[in-house]
Amino acid sequence: MKDLADYQRKIMITGGAGFIGSNLLRYMVDKYPGYLFINVDKLTYAGNLASLMGIEDRENYIFVKADIADSELIDQLFSDYQIDGVINLAAESHVDRSIMGPAQFLQTNIMGAFTLLEVCRKHKNEGKSIRYHQISTDEVFGSLGSEGFFCEDSRYSPSSPYAASKAAGDHFTLAYHKTYGLDTLVSNSSNNYGPYQFPEKLIPLMIHNGLKGKPLPVYGDGRQVRDWLYVIDHCHAIDLIYHKGISGKTYNVGANNEIKNIDLVRNICSILDDLTGESGHADLIRFVEDRPGHDRRYAIDASLLRDELGWKPAHAFDEGLRETVKWYLDNIEWVEACINGEYKDYYKEWYAKRLGG
Ligand code: NAD
Ligand code: DAU
Repeated sequence: MKDLADYQRKIMITGGAGFIGSNLLRYMVDKYPGYLFINVDKLTYAGNLASLMGIEDRENYIFVKADIADSELIDQLFSDYQIDGVINLAAESHVDRSIMGPAQFLQTNIMGAFTLLEVCRKHKNEGKSIRYHQISTDEVFGSLGSEGFFCEDSRYSPSSPYAASKAAGDHFTLAYHKTYGLDTLVSNSSNNYGPYQFPEKLIPLMIHNGLKGKPLPVYGDGRQVRDWLYVIDHCHAIDLIYHKGISGKTYNVGANNEIKNIDLVRNICSILDDLTGESGHADLIRFVEDRPGHDRRYAIDASLLRDELGWKPAHAFDEGLRETVKWYLDNIEWVEACINGEYKDYYKEWYAKRLGG
């Protein structure tokens, strides 16, 4: 590490050992050699340092194992590294787990975000200029009918404990701008896909189960719609919003890739047939008991981000999906390491009744 004064900016990226965080760090560490990135991650079941291989020895990257709700430690890190920006991705992020046990979602997604904001406020009061960017989700808006899109001013109407906890984090972030003049931003993105996603989420779960000949559990009638965004396109958007976004504003991020879950799962099956040379993956599909409170449709209007900041996604969904399936087939050790241990208990508890045993 160089002298702190030699770094143009010192940015704390929280949750950097998770899916989006690790992709973001790989991208930012390369793009901004003059910045220092401090990855603060508690390494929950979803955090994996193996996702950061290749950047761990870089001069502009530091990892600190810490809980974002630990105010003393976060405050200390702010002082030690003269932090001038935070991009908060640390979260409990899985809807199904929030249904099984919401408490940790409140602790991390609300108290954690609040702690970061409080520490930012303290250091701002001491004369430091600090930008805080809250990474959030389209799930805060609840469900759409068959028409329309979520805009930045859509009403918040969260359905799951996860979505409610993220909504609270967003409200605190914007309230700190209005009340304390803190330089804050929120971005709400749709479902991400790509490399390094924990295999409890739809796309990697279907790929891995399909590969192992295990059932592919589709909730309810499978006609729920999600709007998919390639994770690297999201990282480009975060970079733009963090650097150029207007303080106190919210930006929606999405790439107009709406697809019904069942159609997506069938697409994954035909890519698997093609890449493995073995047909019949779609025969593994099982319609199972629905997720309680399951939102029917998400769709993002990202025109503000496009028009104001010039963002546009670079990855077509069909190509990105095929690349993603290929990545999971090529990185089977990474997947196997994730699903050892605690994940097995979770899988049993959530799917046993759904899959009949
Ligand atoms: P993830 O579950 O893959 O990673 C979360 C990371 O946060 C993990 O590394 C975990 O160890 C860490 N973490 C959890 N609790 C922590 C705590 N108390 N202190 C420090 N670190 C902690 O999540 P993801 O999919 O990468 O999502 C990142 C962010 O983006 C989340 O805030 C999520 O709400 C948001 N988001 C995700 C998606 C998506 O499709 N994945 C879409 C929109 C928004
Ligand atoms: O919309 C953004 C959100 O996308 C993020 O805020 C969350 O952090 C992220 O996890 C994701 O939430 P979803 O609940 O949409 O993702 P998940 O991959 O769990 O599910 C996608 C869809 O697939 C959803 O409609 C539920 C369905 N599904 C999921 C699983 C795991 C199934 O039908 N079967 C399954 O086994």
